[in-house]
Order: sequence, then C-alpha cells, then structure tokens
Amino acid sequence: MARNFEFCQSNVLLPLGLVLTCLMTGPAPAGDLKFTTTEESRAEYDRVVKPFLAKHCVGCHSGKKIEGELDLAALEPDMKATTSGARWAMLVEKLTNGEMPPKDKPRPEAESLAAVTRWAYAEAKRANKHFARRAAYANGNQVPHELLFDPKNIPPFDGDARVRRLSPEIYAGFLKDHAKRGGTNQPFSVDGKTTFKDMGAPKIDEPVTATLFQNAVVIVENQTDFKIEEGKVKGNLPREFSALFDPKSPPTEAQFETAIAHQFNTILKRPPTDSEKQRFLGLMKKNIADAGPVIGIRYTLAAVLMLPEAVFRSEVGSGQPDEKGRVRLAPREIAFALAYALTDRRPDAELLTAAATGKLDNDVGVADQIRRMLDDPKIEKPRSLRFFREYFGYDRATDVFKEDKPSDAANSHAGHDPRALVEDTDRLVHFILDQDRDVLRELLTTNKSFVAYKSAAETKKKRADELAKFEAEKAKNPEKFKSKTFKPPGRSIYESYGLADFPDEQPTELPADQRAGILTQPAWLVAHSTTFDNHVIHRGKWIRERLLGGVVPDIPITVDAQLPTAPEQTLRERMTVTQQEYCWKCHQLMNDVGYPFEQYDHFGRFRTAETVVDLEATAKNVDKKGKPLGSVTRDAVLNTTGLIALVSDKSLHGPIESPVAYMKKLAASQYVEQVFIRHAFRYWMGRNESPGDAASLQAAHRAYQESDGSMKALLTALLTSESFLYRVPK
Ligand code: HEC
Ligand code: HEC
Repeated sequence: MARNFEFCQSNVLLPLGLVLTCLMTGPAPAGDLKFTTTEESRAEYDRVVKPFLAKHCVGCHSGKKIEGELDLAALEPDMKATTSGARWAMLVEKLTNGEMPPKDKPRPEAESLAAVTRWAYAEAKRANKHFARRAAYANGNQVPHELLFDPKNIPPFDGDARVRRLSPEIYAGFLKDHAKRGGTNQPFSVDGKTTFKDMGAPKIDEPVTATLFQNAVVIVENQTDFKIEEGKVKGNLPREFSALFDPKSPPTEAQFETAIAHQFNTILKRPPTDSEKQRFLGLMKKNIADAGPVIGIRYTLAAVLMLPEAVFRSEVGSGQPDEKGRVRLAPREIAFALAYALTDRRPDAELLTAAATGKLDNDVGVADQIRRMLDDPKIEKPRSLRFFREYFGYDRATDVFKEDKPSDAANSHAGHDPRALVEDTDRLVHFILDQDRDVLRELLTTNKSFVAYKSAAETKKKRADELAKFEAEKAKNPEKFKSKTFKPPGRSIYESYGLADFPDEQPTELPADQRAGILTQPAWLVAHSTTFDNHVIHRGKWIRERLLGGVVPDIPITVDAQLPTAPEQTLRERMTVTQQEYCWKCHQLMNDVGYPFEQYDHFGRFRTAETVVDLEATAKNVDKKGKPLGSVTRDAVLNTTGLIALVSDKSLHGPIESPVAYMKKLAASQYVEQVFIRHAFRYWMGRNESPGDAASLQAAHRAYQESDGSMKALLTALLTSESFLYRVPK
C-alpha cells in the first residue's frame, strides 16, 4: 500500500518497542499529456510555452533585466538538466498561484496558462522529476477563479495520495465509543475557530504520542475490567477477553489469536492479516514474559490502538491506474472517507458491508451510501453545521467582550446574550438545511429568524408571572407604586432583532427592509465587532474572501493598526486613516465592501443614526462651579453606502445602497455561488483546490444549480467527485 510513500524520519519509539510510523504524502501532479521523447516535449514547448513566456515574462526575466534571479533565457526546457526541474516547479507554482506575472500586469488567458502547466507536468513526468508543491496554496483563493470554472478548459486531475491525522472531533468520537467511563484526554489541540480545521497533516509529536498511549491503556483497562470471584473471571468484558484471564487454565495460542482478532475488529473495523497475527502473537508472548500476564495482555491489546491506522486516515488508492492515470481509493478507504466527511464516527456496519461487497466500486453505489447517511435522522451529522459556523464565523460572537454600562446607552445593551444569538443562527442554518432549497441564497437573504428560541417561551411566561405579581402588589399599595413601571425581563434579545416582543412563532419574520440573511443576524454582526464598535475591516475582509473570492494580503507587522480615538467622529470618519496610499492598496479590498453594515450597531441592532459625542454640548455641560457633568451625545448622519470593485466578475461592480440590496445582489450572482462552492470543496476535501480540481468543482456547481440549490446534492457531487475518490500516483 505504501508504494508511493516514504516513511518520515521522526518515527516515535513507544514503550514496548512499538514504532508508530507516520506516512508522508508525495505530491506529484500529472496530466493526460504524455511525452516519451525530448523531441515531443520540445515541440509542445515551442508551440505553447515559448510564446507564452515571451508575451508575459521575458521582459522582466531575461536580457538586461533579470528579476528574482530568474533568467528565462538560461532556463532549459529539458527538465532532466539538473537545476531546471526545481526552477520550473517554482515557475509553475508562481503561475498557478497567480503571483506571476505581477498583479499589475495583464492576466494571461486561462487557456494558455493551462497549456503551459500541462506541458510542465508532462515534461516533469518524462524527466522523472518530482514537482513539489510547496505548502500548497496557503490561501485557496490564490488559484485564479477563471482557471477553475472555465468549462472549455479543464486541466487534468492531479490529486495527490495522502495520509492525514484524525481531526480532534473524530478522535473525540472514537473516545465516546470506546472510553465511556472517561479518564482519557484529547491529544490533538483544537486550533483557533476561524480556519478550516480539518486541513493538513499535523505531525504526531512525542507529547501527543504519550497521550495517545495513555488513552489506549485506559480504553483497554475498561475493555478488560474484571475481578476473580470464586475462581472465576467476573466482569462486563467480552468472552474473547475473559478467556485470557482465567486463573485455572492459562490461555492457549488460539485464545490469544481470537482476542487479538477481536481487538482488531473492534478498534480498526477489520480482521488482522496473517503477518499482523504473527507479530501480535509474538508481542503478546514477549510482553507477558516481561510484565506478567495481566499487564502483558493489556499492553498488547493497547498496541492495536497505536497502529498508524487508528490515528491516521489514509487516502492512497489501490489497483492499476486507469486511462487518465488515476487510481481509485480502496473501498475501505472510501468507507472511512465518507464516514469522516459526514460524521465524527468511523463507518457504520452498512457502509463497511458496502465496501466489502463491491458496492463502493462505482459512483452510483457511493452516492447511495451518501444519500442513506444524509437521509437517516439517527445518524448524527455535525459536520455540516460546523462548516457553516467556520464559513460564516458567527459563532465567534461569544468571544467578543461587551461592556455593560447602563449609563452609556449607546454602548450598552443590558442582558446582551451572545450565546443565545449564536444558538438562534445555528437554528436558522439547520432550518434552511432542512428545507434544502436555494441554500446559499436563503442564507444570504432570508428575513426569517429565530429569536431566543430556546428561552422565549419560558421568558414570556416568567414575564407574565412577574407582571401579574407587579399588578397585584400595585393594587395593594398604589402609593408606593405610583412612580414605578414594570420592566420586563429578557427584552434585550428581541430588541437585537428589531422586534417589540418575543415572537409567538419560531422562526419569525424580521422587518424585510432591515434584515437579509446571516450577515444581518446579530450573531454575525457581534462576531465581527469589538467591545465598543463595529469592525468594518473584519466584515469587509470576510466578504472579500468568502463571497468575492479575493485575496487580502496579510497586515504588515510594521503597521500600527489603530484608528484614531475620536469619540466625536463616526467610525467611518475615523477609518479615513486607512485611505493613505500605502494603506489603501490593501484596505480598498476591505473597507468599501464592509461599510454597508454600518446600518447596525455593534450589538447587531438596526439603527438610522450613529451616536457620537457632541464636543460643544459636552463643554457646556458643567455645574455651577464649572465641574464637567459628563459627555453629551448627538446623532450623526449614518452613511451605509459601499462599493463593489476589484472582483474578477465585473458584473458585480457598482455602488451599494443598503445591506439588504447588497445581500440580494450577491446572492443572485453565479460567481458568488462558485466562490461558495470553492469554500465547501476545501472543507469537505480537507485541502485547498488546485487547477486539477476544475472538473470536480464545475460538476459540484452544476449539481447545485440543477437541484435548485440543494446542499445534499452539492455534498453528493463533492463526495463522488474524482477529487474525493481518486488519486494520481507519481
Ligand atoms: C514586471 C516584471 C515582471 C514580470 C512581467 C514577470 N516577473 Fe517574475 N518576478 C519579478 C520580480 C520583481 C521578481 C522577484 C520578486 C518576487 O519574487 O516577487 C520575480 C520573481 C519571479 C520568480 C521567483 C524567482 C526566485 O528565484 O525567487 C519566478 C519563478 C517568476 N518571477 C516567474 C515569472 C513568470 C513565469 C512570469 C511570466 C508569467 C513572470 N515572472 C513575469 C518581476 C516580473
Ligand atoms: C498589506 C496589506 C495592508 C496594509 C498595507 C495595511 N493594512 Fe491594515 N489591515 C490589513 C488586514 C489584512 C487587516 C485585518 C487583520 C485582521 O484580520 O485582523 C488590517 C487591519 C487593520 C486595522 C484593524 C485592526 C484591528 O484588528 O482592529 C486597522 C486599524 C488598520 N488595518 C489600519 C491600517 C493603516 C492605518 C494602514 C496604513 C498605515 C494599514 N492598515 C495598512 C492589511 C493591511
């Protein structure tokens, strides 16, 4: 199976001399173009590559001007030449990342760009050179959109075989199944919430290995928990294990084998191979000799949990390459990949049976299993909601600290409850997924909303009770209650949504001229705000990257990223500092697409004016002795206009009047839909897209459109795509 792989050097030595090996992937794109001789390759080079370089590159990389120490005149098109392979690899990377030619130069046509990369892959293959894609596409958006969605020009698929570590969530699912009594720890740190966590293959280092091993021992102790009573093994352990601890008769070799096989089936969902049987039998004997029967047996059973297969997921493929040079994942790999794409658990019995009976050998069979899992309400599928949380980032509302200062009306919102806001948006996402129609458009435009749906009924009842009590006491003692009014609890939440009360039905409809979709939900607005203000820049960055498919360069470390403190100015006025030429080259990508959300305050409340400090009135606000009495505020005119520009789909360009019109415009765009598909692809493939995924992406988009925007159809298309099911061996 490890045909194409090298074992990494940092193998970790475990107690008992077991070695946990980590497999490394070997990236190697390939194409359907094939050269057997230098001449063939040279002819294609002369036909497509030479003119391309002459047109776009030699001006800066040849003759008098040699930028970046890359002299194209000296670059051998024969990649067998020692250094040219690496040079070409870098060149192709710069090209496919859209980094060269420099951003301010005319973009090469997608078609000729693809022809160049196709030649380079084929020549690399002929010359037997390894095309290493460095830290492939740190930012997925860097692959030009046109390279992925042009149906007339589909580059060959080049997906690499890979082995990934389990995600923290999947490992947690494993612990839920096998360590119900607890005592285990999560070995994989859960990173920040904003990135697509499933990506990459973080190394397994020594502290992680130690935790994995401790967990393995705890799990096996649970599995083999027994007492001896009246000379008999007592406990809730399987027969295969209890036989090993019988004080009267020492276990036979056959019993050891049965126990080892049982452990393989329980943990890895497969029987051991003959050579594994031999290895584990040998280990069992050695461990018992070293540590006595009980510990020896337990450590051997625990060793099954330390096999790479228990910690890594493998997507390598098996069999002979097809006519396109692709190999399909092994049925068992497909079963695990599907289970992990939709759930946090290992494949269920039905999926394993499908794998074992050839049902996953074709896409129809795979689609059947996907449908079955999607349609079965008993199968927990937390990964869809997790995608939408990661994509929208609204769940970070709970991380944004808000001060509660009743004296400062503009900045306080007594009883602000970010948890409830996030739950409401979660519920809205589920609601839209349940309808499964026009999913992205609904997410971006619906004015339906849940409003404290978990506590509304209860709070309403509590309020009625309190009001009754208030009235009763008032009736008893009218004098005392003369100046008192009833303050109902829980007001703040419905006010965040612009309502006057808790709705009687959930979901309810919010004012349609005020709200459109997730980006106008208080949870998203709060998540993209600070303690005291909106965060135009974060909102704009989100839209630029997640809907407009753009790339915003990282903030330079030399920049003092501060807006002036000027409480008399609106946020938009304070943002003027970012219009200096140096700042604007980045901030033009974010500010203008973020401004429309000034329509809401930083608690997510719709507003028609922004409250700022009135300096003059504050100066006059003094007592008789001239002591200041505090700041006085005034309503400043609100400017919610924005501008869409610098998008490769120019039909989107133009001014924005209001957030609702803005959302409707974006939701109607095919281009925006494709950007969304790209993000979904990344999440479910666990990697960034590359030009070779064009066919998969386009098929996914078609499936989404033809199903009237069904997320289930999109998922089925992604999980039956060649990007998911195939690999190209190097
Ligand atoms: C307007 C001038 C200009 C044009 C046109 C241009 N480049 Fe560059 N290129 C540069 C500069 C400047 C650098 C060095 C700085 C950098 O890496 O960004 C560079 C660096 C590179 C590097 C990295 C070299 C190294 O060793 O780090 C590669 C590869 C490259 N260019 C390829 C291309 C290709 C291919 C084209 C045509 C599609 C192209 N360039 C067009 C200016 C240009
Ligand atoms: C190379 C691109 C780039 C340049 C140049 C740049 N910025 Fe930014 N700036 C960013 C990005 C990206 C962010 C968002 C960072 C984040 O995600 O938190 C940002 C954020 C900010 C923020 C908000 C910080 C916060 O988190 O509250 C301020 C203020 C800011 N920039 C001001 C400036 C000013 C002033 C300049 C010019 C002197 C400038 N920036 C130049 C990219 C840039």
